[in-house]
Amino acid sequence: MPIDKTPLLVVNRLGITLPAPRPLTLVKSISFHLGQERVALVGESGSGKSLTARALMGLLPDPLYMQAERLRFGQRDLTRLTEPEWNQLRGSRIAMVMQDPKYALNPGQTVGRQVMEPLILHTRLGRAERTEKVFAMLESVGLPEPKILSGRYPHQLSGGMGQRVMLAIALINDPELLIADEPTSALDHAMRDQVLSLIERLVAERNMGLLLISHDLQQVARHCERVLVMYRGRLVDQLPADALPSATHPYTRTLWSCRPSAATHGLRLPVLDRAALEALE
Ligand SMILES: Nc1ncnc2c1ncn2[C@@H]1O[C@H](COP(=O)(O)OP(=O)(O)OP(=O)(O)O)[C@@H](O)[C@H]1O
Ligand SMILES: [Mg+2]
Repeated sequence: MPIDKTPLLVVNRLGITLPAPRPLTLVKSISFHLGQERVALVGESGSGKSLTARALMGLLPDPLYMQAERLRFGQRDLTRLTEPEWNQLRGSRIAMVMQDPKYALNPGQTVGRQVMEPLILHTRLGRAERTEKVFAMLESVGLPEPKILSGRYPHQLSGGMGQRVMLAIALINDPELLIADEPTSALDHAMRDQVLSLIERLVAERNMGLLLISHDLQQVARHCERVLVMYRGRLVDQLPADALPSATHPYTRTLWSCRPSAATHGLRLPVLDRAALEALE
């Protein structure tokens, strides 16, 4: 199937503000497009990645608010949605996977029930069809024996299994866009690549868009086609993932080269020159 690059999501001059005690702009006029492609959103802690993701889901915590010149998802103007319209969009056309399944899953409900929930909320499928879909979804996120697993509770799952269950919940209604906020940071290193590869494969197979948030640029770059770089609330760079080795922006270059590896063993890692970055603003 040909890949459609017409933007699913258009973000134009999006700002996020904390109103009190004095208005403080936390995300500063960022603009980007996202089509049926895998895009990484990277930046250091506190740079505004999660706030950006939450704004795109209509889930900004009180009292933060957003304003945007344009914020569109397909034909919908996200700046004008009512709460019931957001509820309708979330979990059907846009889905999100959070950082840690330990907190995101409901400890008192079985896995099967939680994966089924979006079908109950957003479709008219009957019980048998729903169960069939839940089993198929659990299998496609790499969880064998879905019947047994459906009866389990979150505390009976490993971290990797929990994250796969969260993916199943996110994808069961075939959304067009998946936003994944540090989906693997609670996992050990070997498991991270496995889960990221799974996300990459599922998103490609389903012709979806992906916004993958991380502070590990080297790792997400392997799974994405494009990279957006945030620094202190601004979007300072955007580039194709394969252009990262020759990135020209100083912050992108630092992020790209500051991770220790076998190749950098024994060498001094670069340090971020914040004064030079401030001068660029
Ligand atoms: N509810 C809130 N009220 C006030 N300030 C907030 C709130 N949430 C986030 N912030 C501030 O907004 C800035 C951006 O936060 P955000 O959570 O988007 O960062 P991030 O890039 O996701 O960082 P991390 O990599 O640590 O997850 C931070 O300075 C943070 O302290
Ligand atoms: Mg965050």
